[in-house]
Amino acid sequence: MASQLDSKDLLRFITCGSVDDGKSTLIGRLLYDSKQVFDDQLMHADKDGAPDLASLVDGLAAEREQGITIDVAYRYFSTAKRKFIVADTPGHEQYTRNMATGASTADLAVLLIDARYGVQVQTRRHAFITSLLGIKHVVVAINKMDLVEFSQKEFNQIEEDFREFADGLNFTDIRCIPICATDGDNVIKSSERMSWYRGQDILSTLESVEINRDETSLGFRFPVQWVNRANADFRGYAGTIYAGEISKGDEIIAVPSGKTARVERIVTMDGDLNRAVTHQAVTLTLDEKLDISRGDFICTKVNAPQHSDQFQASILWMGEDKLFPGRGYLLKTCNRTVPASVTDLKYKVDVNDFTHISAKTLALNEIGICNLSLGKSIVFDAYKGNRTTGSFILIDRHTNETVAAGMLNFSLRRASNLTWQKLEVGKAERAEQKHQKPAVLWFTGLSGSGKSTIANLVEKRLFDMGKHTYTLDGDNVRHGLNKDLGFTDADRIENIRRIGETAKLMADAGLVVLVSFISPFTAERNMARRLMEDGEFIEIHVNTPLAVAEQRDVKGLYAKARAGKIKNFTGIDSEYQEPKNPEIVVDTVSLTPEQSAEKIVTYLEENRYIEIGE
Ligand code: ADX
Repeated sequence: MASQLDSKDLLRFITCGSVDDGKSTLIGRLLYDSKQVFDDQLMHADKDGAPDLASLVDGLAAEREQGITIDVAYRYFSTAKRKFIVADTPGHEQYTRNMATGASTADLAVLLIDARYGVQVQTRRHAFITSLLGIKHVVVAINKMDLVEFSQKEFNQIEEDFREFADGLNFTDIRCIPICATDGDNVIKSSERMSWYRGQDILSTLESVEINRDETSLGFRFPVQWVNRANADFRGYAGTIYAGEISKGDEIIAVPSGKTARVERIVTMDGDLNRAVTHQAVTLTLDEKLDISRGDFICTKVNAPQHSDQFQASILWMGEDKLFPGRGYLLKTCNRTVPASVTDLKYKVDVNDFTHISAKTLALNEIGICNLSLGKSIVFDAYKGNRTTGSFILIDRHTNETVAAGMLNFSLRRASNLTWQKLEVGKAERAEQKHQKPAVLWFTGLSGSGKSTIANLVEKRLFDMGKHTYTLDGDNVRHGLNKDLGFTDADRIENIRRIGETAKLMADAGLVVLVSFISPFTAERNMARRLMEDGEFIEIHVNTPLAVAEQRDVKGLYAKARAGKIKNFTGIDSEYQEPKNPEIVVDTVSLTPEQSAEKIVTYLEENRYIEIGE
């Protein structure tokens, strides 16, 4: 019996629409009427004895909320013809990300539309994401037909609207079905109340739709999870097959090395295999000793993937905080996690008419096309060729949250032509000549907190000791290098990115660099820290409470900001994120600028940046 079920063809689908569109009721009915509802779920049947279909689904949603992490519930049911896995995702606007998660593995999407309201922004957004994620088949379930008197005219209008809109998307198969989920019309049997409709009901459609999965034609993709050296004679590459299949004797290519060999054995816990396919966990041995390490790929020679560290990509932003070009994120794909940043946001897409809108940031649920730059090369395929090796997520370095789902469109060749020029005189030589240890003293704090005053005093002390220093000061740099930048979040991020890079060059030149910028965001200060060598970056929080800085108001800017004459002023209508673990805090309420400078110089002496007593 079990094997019979297993051999039945499997359809993965997702349902999109909001709770009010009747999504839960539809799923409940599919599960209930196909008799696949578990007994404990039936306990929720309402007083009249009729099952409360929505509760079959929503009851589980409440459970999930307590567990928080899982936002997508996968449900299984089967009929005589097919097995189904339905990804059920919460329908509210802010849950688009869950929808994207569910859609990334689905073959088909059921889009729900309330017949009274027709095609809504939400419908368009869901259709767009569905298409972006590579789903080709859509069933448009036009629900609540009872509330529009089962009108064929209304149905036709909605169908026409949807088809016109979807013309710009990549669907190959669109079917519109008028339903009334609460009563079951056209869900699993055709409706007498809508005899004008001649097409199939939802379940028959799901049972019969032919899915064109082109995965078998994909090349073999095997990311190596670890190299197994059980004994001197055995060297096996262990992992899970991401795509394609492999047989004993097949010729493979290791990426990125480009070396080739043949598969000698396909080892599993249950003995050797002649052939293995997608999702199987195996260990491969080869007829030649190749230098393959964790994270490399073993692939078929034909149709081999590429590797790159620069891409054009489509991204769906899911973070509460906006996406900012230049900010550092982590990109995760297959089994690799690498540093990444968006170097250029080309445009965002208006999901209503697919127009391109120029943008500096992406907010929650927005979709954009961008250039991505990675800290390391990855092995990849374009998403349209392989959904697994072509997709990625972006993770916020600070909160560890997933902030975007993305698709790699193609690699940008530009950077692969750049190499590091080896210089004869290195940082160590330059530092030695100057008898000093390069360092970056990064002063952060509110406007008027005293950063520049204290940095000046510190620099003077270092200079007098014969140290080679340079100060990068916000007000000064903004007159030149950064004269094109203002005070929006995006501009401040770019401001700090450039200064981080400049400070890195100066440290490389062997200097002690003093950086005095508000640098209000943790993410960019951390990014600057990561640019430097271990121990080279010293974060100094010039801690002055807002009230004190405002009262001092050295430049008269707080008064102007309060009067509404300056916008986005730090501490007033723009955020300052206090450093959590700075190397040094100077409290300017209890210390004079001289005492603050003294505290910093003492730190430098104690930590051997400068020799004591110099
Ligand atoms: S940062 O936020 O991008 O790091 P930066 O240190 O370069 O700022 O520049 C801050 C200086 O610009 C302030 O000391 C102040 O003199 C001036 N300034 C002008 N407008 C603003 C503003 N809206 N917010 C903060 N500082 C401003």
